[in-house]
Amino acid sequence: MCITLNTTRDGLTAGSPSGMLIRTVKKVLSVRIRLARAIEEADGPRPSALLCCASMEGTMHIGLDFGTTNSSAAIYDGDTLKLLSLDPVNTSHSILRSTLFVTREGAPFIGREAINRFTEGNVGREIEYEWKYIGDAEITFAEFGTVVQALYVTVDANAPGRLFQSLKTGLRDKSFTKTNVFGKQYTLESLIAVVLRLILERIQDVLGQPVTSMVIGRPVHYASNPKADTLAFQRMQAACELAELPNVTFLEEPSAAALSYAHSAQGRQHVLVFDFGGGTLDVTVMQLDGKGGRLVLATDGVPVGGDLLDQRLVMGRMLPHFGAGATLGPRRLPLPTHLLENLSQWQTITDLTQPKYLAIIDEAIAIGDKPQELRALRSLVRQNYGLPMYEEVERAKVRLSEADETILAMHMGDIDFAERIPRWDFERLIGPDVREVERCIDRALEQAGLAAADIDVILRTGGSSRIPRFVRMLADKFGAEKLQEMDVFTGVASGLALAAWERSRELTA
Ligand SMILES: Nc1ncnc2c1ncn2[C@@H]1O[C@H](COP(=O)(O)OP(=O)(O)OP(=O)(O)O)[C@@H](O)[C@H]1O
Ligand SMILES: [Mg+2]
Repeated sequence: MCITLNTTRDGLTAGSPSGMLIRTVKKVLSVRIRLARAIEEADGPRPSALLCCASMEGTMHIGLDFGTTNSSAAIYDGDTLKLLSLDPVNTSHSILRSTLFVTREGAPFIGREAINRFTEGNVGREIEYEWKYIGDAEITFAEFGTVVQALYVTVDANAPGRLFQSLKTGLRDKSFTKTNVFGKQYTLESLIAVVLRLILERIQDVLGQPVTSMVIGRPVHYASNPKADTLAFQRMQAACELAELPNVTFLEEPSAAALSYAHSAQGRQHVLVFDFGGGTLDVTVMQLDGKGGRLVLATDGVPVGGDLLDQRLVMGRMLPHFGAGATLGPRRLPLPTHLLENLSQWQTITDLTQPKYLAIIDEAIAIGDKPQELRALRSLVRQNYGLPMYEEVERAKVRLSEADETILAMHMGDIDFAERIPRWDFERLIGPDVREVERCIDRALEQAGLAAADIDVILRTGGSSRIPRFVRMLADKFGAEKLQEMDVFTGVASGLALAAWERSRELTA
């Protein structure tokens, strides 16, 4: 009898190599698993252990936009609004990529440095698997008595660390609870808490004193499903608590952007904020009375963002370069579809590094009719080129915001292609997303009791709001003359800082 545990992105799953053993033997009375000490059932390092922060009186009220792709923070003192330097390694210091790299030893790095460390240590590296003993299973059968079986997992022997991106999106995924990082269990909340804690430390370093309170942005809806949405928000609150952030309150991200606009706007007007980021599209309709009064008339949002649009490009244009359509052997059997489905996110590409998948790919190379493309798939998987591919795709998407067409090229390992992508084709691939976004705007207008003609200004913010197809949709609906672009990456943080200052005054009034 042989029982194996498989590591996945979300933890450990037990089973036999066939995946059936425990379930097919009917009279199993009990299964007890004793894990070796090396596998810790901890929630990851307590973020508070990373920095011991003195608790002192202070009046630092901070706005923090914890974005799916980018984070930024700002402070307002009633007079001056200042963006804070969060990432000295990034081209723009006030924008921090929302990434986390955890080394084999458990040391965390965030922002550009996290990506650089992952790229230096992982990309191009051949993954070598080794079996690792993790404990015993004691199985008691009615007929045979008790059997003790050693448990092994296959682990990537040389990985120097693990990279996490788009952790905010994970909040709405109820299956993403824990993940195993080099033998240590991290909850999603603890991973986010590590990022938040390090951000707080950087802010306090910049300010030279402790932060008093924080207003943190939240999407209008983390998820379309109300249950998933509530769960996501609770998990975000738990992450903030775990990170021991001081006096946290939340504000919807597009309402923060509207606040930032209202701060310097003149006259009576209706404003619609179109905040289109990496994970979500968020909308706020706000009424300004011209005398400083503001009223949020409606908010809405959908889980459509830049990450999904990248995914559309990968699944719509990249798969033929990695063996899509290949047939195997004399019976011309199709390549198993689940292999290429894993390319829909860079994180799930690494799932294909499991020896059982690599064996299928190797066999496909040997007997398939597209050996070159299948070798490219092997290289993508085996040498960790998933992240570079997604980065290339994202860069191509960004170029298409300026150019009518672009060349998406990859020349690394056995991957070797250059493909022309016209903007119209990208627009074809994202057609359903454009319609979903448009429906969201219509719902917000309806909720506000306004027609498109009643809106005076459309504020575009968030990186994805630069995509011409969405700009065109807004121009068609509201009129091109009403569109204004605000600071796409920092507009929300500025509004959150204004809210933090206002809330602190309300408390002291
Ligand atoms: N010029 C551009 N054209 C198209 N997309 C862009 C452009 N610039 C950035 N993006 C995309 O914008 C997204 C990041 O935007 P932003 O930083 O506003 O998101 P975020 O605030 O982190 O996410 P969210 O608010 O959804 O949590 C990425 O998907 C990026 O690819
Ligand atoms: Mg955002």
